[in-house]
Amino acid sequence: MRQRKVKNESEKLAALEEYMVKDGRERKGQWRKSFTFQNEVKRELYLEIGCGRGHFLTTLANNYPKRCYIGVEGRSSIVLRTLELINNKGLSNVLCIAEFIEDPRDYFEKEELDGIYLNFSDPWPKVRHAKRRLTHRSFLEGYKYILKPGSFLEIKTDNADLFAFTLEELEAVGMDLVERSDDLHRSDLTSRSITTQYEERFLLLNKKIFYCKVKV
Ligand SMILES: C[S@@+](CC[C@H](N)C(=O)[O-])C[C@H]1O[C@@H](n2cnc3c(N)ncnc32)[C@H](O)[C@@H]1O
Repeated sequence: MRQRKVKNESEKLAALEEYMVKDGRERKGQWRKSFTFQNEVKRELYLEIGCGRGHFLTTLANNYPKRCYIGVEGRSSIVLRTLELINNKGLSNVLCIAEFIEDPRDYFEKEELDGIYLNFSDPWPKVRHAKRRLTHRSFLEGYKYILKPGSFLEIKTDNADLFAFTLEELEAVGMDLVERSDDLHRSDLTSRSITTQYEERFLLLNKKIFYCKVKV
């Protein structure tokens, strides 16, 4: 995702810091306490890694106000857009970790999450960079650890090579597909209904979107 220089970026980030988590690792196992809800019950907790400008994340949070959402985005000028959206939509069920995550187990406890979304992750096409792909088996092992039994991992991409790699890696770690499409928007799968910013762009170009869902 292209990063534009934002004027007064640090001041703008500071003004929205209530939606941003600076100590993500210290919240491990305690994430639900970070959300202020009345009549506290155990809330479902979902994560999107590489949330970009937050369109998908904040649409979900708006549609499901009783669920909690965490977005992770490593680029500060981009995470700022997510924070602005959270604020503009008046959402109290979304927080952002403004970091490039390397091992999700550093941030989340075993079985802490109800679902993870990976949307249009950076493909890292060079073989020597394969370990940086968010669907490399080392990441997948991490997701397996932090996801509850019965929860899910959902993946969307426009990149056929990344999708093929992802399917191989899922198989290697024993994660079974429950849904798959090589052309999500010409399928009847419900995951086509909420789109990301990248997805909108690719749909305008008439590009196919690859999608799969894994149950843990
Ligand atoms: C291609 S963009 C897609 C953004 C968004 N998901 C969408 O579909 O519109 C990928 C984003 O993931 C972020 N990213 C990549 N690896 C990451 C990591 N390990 N932790 C946090 N963010 C990451 C990048 O900074 C970039 O903004």
